Amino acid sequence: MADQFTPRVFSGIQPSGGLTLGNYLGAIKRFVDMQAAEFETIYCMVDLHAITVWQEPADLRKNTRELCAGFIASGIDPKQSILFNQSQVPEHTQLAWIFNTVARMGWLNRMTQFKDKAGKNRENSSVGLFAYPALMAADILIYHATHVPVGDDQKQHVELTRDIAAKFNHDYGVDFFPITEPVIEGAATRVMSLRDGSKKMSKSDASDMSRINMTDDADAIAQKIRKARTDPEALPSEAEGLKDRAEARNLVNIYAALSDQSVDQVLSDVGGKQFSEFKPMLADLAVTKLSPISGEMARLMDQPDEIDKILARGSERARELAAPILKKTYEIVGMVG
Ligand code: TRP
Repeated sequence: MADQFTPRVFSGIQPSGGLTLGNYLGAIKRFVDMQAAEFETIYCMVDLHAITVWQEPADLRKNTRELCAGFIASGIDPKQSILFNQSQVPEHTQLAWIFNTVARMGWLNRMTQFKDKAGKNRENSSVGLFAYPALMAADILIYHATHVPVGDDQKQHVELTRDIAAKFNHDYGVDFFPITEPVIEGAATRVMSLRDGSKKMSKSDASDMSRINMTDDADAIAQKIRKARTDPEALPSEAEGLKDRAEARNLVNIYAALSDQSVDQVLSDVGGKQFSEFKPMLADLAVTKLSPISGEMARLMDQPDEIDKILARGSERARELAAPILKKTYEIVGMVG
């Protein structure tokens, strides 16, 4: 059914903390690749999603600009892609309200991210945290996006988006919203904590040593890699040998992703080496690949007005696409106006 729709990519990242290597390899690098392909690409800093859990206003402002700088420094061209922050395009929240009436309590109750984030304290979590996936569906469908690159942890939300589109189309007897395809990352780009290979690298982890921040300088990157947890074995020559070695696998995955090679290609070179030899290689590679990005980010962050201008222009372009789709949705639903 997606045939009738222009191939269009939408994805979003929450400006809820600094940008990490996990965001870069797991998301932004792929966003850059898709920009180069035959898609229209729309990338969003989802500030309205971020505030479903408490954000200090000054931090939110800083993190939104840092994320924008990170996108651009990594190769997102704001002339080619539409780059903006969610709150500035009110059509997202307007469509989200309609979707709040389409989505069922039972559907949202099954969302594992809500269960994880709310934890034991469900009664005290925000209504926004519960309704989060309906807003995410609106982010995607307000542009009739056909493809959504996301990490594995967001697959359930994209499936919910498909369910919402299908129920809307069915209830109103239309063929209006596309059934969007998730584009899930390969295992190789899932970056784990440097301290615990079973946990995702996260901007919210208490230990800064667990992650590489995109703003880290060369010394910090090298030190974090040197101290990264590993095991005493030498590296295997094939991917199979990393099966039960989460930390070793993570470092090899990072090496593969940064050097645009497969894990097997990397292991055919470094198989048999000890970590004492491999870690400096990884540190060199990481510094070579990441310092141009962090340098460019620092330059942009020194010009917050420029960043704000880019976001304002992106929001304008986004609204041009979103407004007619919202208008048509209102007509379908029977809103007089
Ligand atoms: N929920 C996503 C995350 O936390 C962020 C997000 C919000 C998103 N809206 C989106 C991702 C729309 C893709 C498409 O990672």
